[in-house]
Amino acid sequence: MTDHKYNIETDIDRIIYTEEEIQKRVKELAREVDNYIESTIGKEEIWKRPPIAVCILRGASVFMADLTRSMEVPIEYDFISVSTYGDATEPGEVRVLKDLDRSITNRIVLIVEDIVDTGETLHHLLKSFQARNPRSVKITTLLDKSSRRKKDIAIDFTGFDLAEDLFLVGYGMDYAGKYRNLPFIGTLKEELMEP
Ligand code: PRP
Repeated sequence: MTDHKYNIETDIDRIIYTEEEIQKRVKELAREVDNYIESTIGKEEIWKRPPIAVCILRGASVFMADLTRSMEVPIEYDFISVSTYGDATEPGEVRVLKDLDRSITNRIVLIVEDIVDTGETLHHLLKSFQARNPRSVKITTLLDKSSRRKKDIAIDFTGFDLAEDLFLVGYGMDYAGKYRNLPFIGTLKEELMEP
């Protein structure tokens, strides 16, 4: 790690996924998603009605940018903002702060998440999206913390299965709004986390 003026790197206790590991896996996921799309709809239809990647703000923004730039099929973007945790580390209720800008009716939708934890967020969004009659809804997440799951969610493309129940920051994930811009994923030093 390099010296950093604002300690954002020195606040890290343990690196769980390096920048290189993440970038390699994201490129593999992009291939998997491309293959799914190409095996589902023809080239002409992909051009006419491209799939829509839906980024769940804000944590998935970094993954969304890297994943979609590694994809080869045309894809449109939309963003939805939900709030589950506030600034704490325990889940609360799901509130939609900003809904999709466009219709997803008859479209292939790719939900892009950074981490699936209890599954509450996706459970809520899936119900809401299915009611809009999309052609299909697929889910990709960089991290799957399946040990914490409360709702049964079928994830289609997973980056890493996170066996340990760790609170992670970096690559889009925050603690009290910070650390999202770290290029790797790690745990914070315990003394920095509020009890
Ligand atoms: C995180 C993450 C997921 C959600 C997963 O978002 O980005 O959207 O929690 O948790 P769940 O499976 O228990 O519902 P967070 O609410 O921290 O907001 P953020 O993306 O703005 O950081």
